[in-house]
Amino acid sequence: MKSSEIRRVFIEFFAERGHLQVPSSSLVPHNDPTVLLTTAGMQQMTPYFLGLERPPSPRLTSIQKCFRTVDIDEVGDEEHLTFFEMLGNFSVGDYFKAEAISWAWELLTERFGIPRERLRPSVHRDDDFAFAYWRDVIGIPAELIARLGDEHNWWGPVGETGPNGPDSEIFYDRGEALGCGRPDCGPGCDYCHRFLEIWNLVFMEFFKEADGTQRPLPRKNIDTGMGLERIAMVLQGVGSVFETDLYLPILECAADIAGVRYREDPRVDRSLRVIADHGRAVTFLIGDGVFPGNEGRSYVLRRVLRRAVRHGRLIGPVNRLTAASGMTSTT
Ligand code: SER
Repeated sequence: MKSSEIRRVFIEFFAERGHLQVPSSSLVPHNDPTVLLTTAGMQQMTPYFLGLERPPSPRLTSIQKCFRTVDIDEVGDEEHLTFFEMLGNFSVGDYFKAEAISWAWELLTERFGIPRERLRPSVHRDDDFAFAYWRDVIGIPAELIARLGDEHNWWGPVGETGPNGPDSEIFYDRGEALGCGRPDCGPGCDYCHRFLEIWNLVFMEFFKEADGTQRPLPRKNIDTGMGLERIAMVLQGVGSVFETDLYLPILECAADIAGVRYREDPRVDRSLRVIADHGRAVTFLIGDGVFPGNEGRSYVLRRVLRRAVRHGRLIGPVNRLTAASGMTSTT
């Protein structure tokens, strides 16, 4: 399934269930001094979750441009990115855990056709409702539902303060061959990449104050996010996000310019992947009005741009020519 088709199926699925599609907001958040850049689809929903503004519909869906630096050092592996598109459905005080879980399951297994035995959920260890729902309604054996702590199954807030809550994540099992073989290997495993997180269902119930106090939000909300690149990796049956139709043309273009080939040398592949991710990220950041500079989001852009350039030098013609002539590249 092409990525354009995945976007269409996702939006149609939630539109059929009464969700209004809203456009992606800018990567530069409006009216939110707590964050530099848009990192999640829920950010434009925050005034609705807080009860400050009335949403155009209590059920919303979007495909949000997101940029995160938290995983920047891992970009170049199979699944981490700085810029990505997040497919999301949101409930503003309307449906809650049961519908969010059931619809996610239906979309993944029936519309996308992922075999159910490939999917593994996790829940917050104190969330008895979500655990029982996965077990009794969806029919996942209890021993295959991971019950994890705050570090895995609590999401938010985006900045120091804001909406947050426990979550339930859905992982795709990439197969035993990619596992670490430990008896406790499962979703959230720290030792291998067998389980790929594809969808996060957040049960937005709290607001975190500046002093750390959690107070209940006026109503219970749903915020889900599924990375388009990761679900494309699963549905296109490829080994990394970089081999999906979203990335391969960019990699091939970068490889052409550098005069190298993808999939011949793992070090070159890593650099090509970094260039592809960072190139896409800086393009969208500049498109949303961010320019390189020394402060704030401008500095983030500058750093990302410089990282891409550094990788270009590692594999590009300048470096190869100077290496061949015995000179050191000073560029
Ligand atoms: N806010 C959650 C996330 O970004 C789900 O959308 O993962």
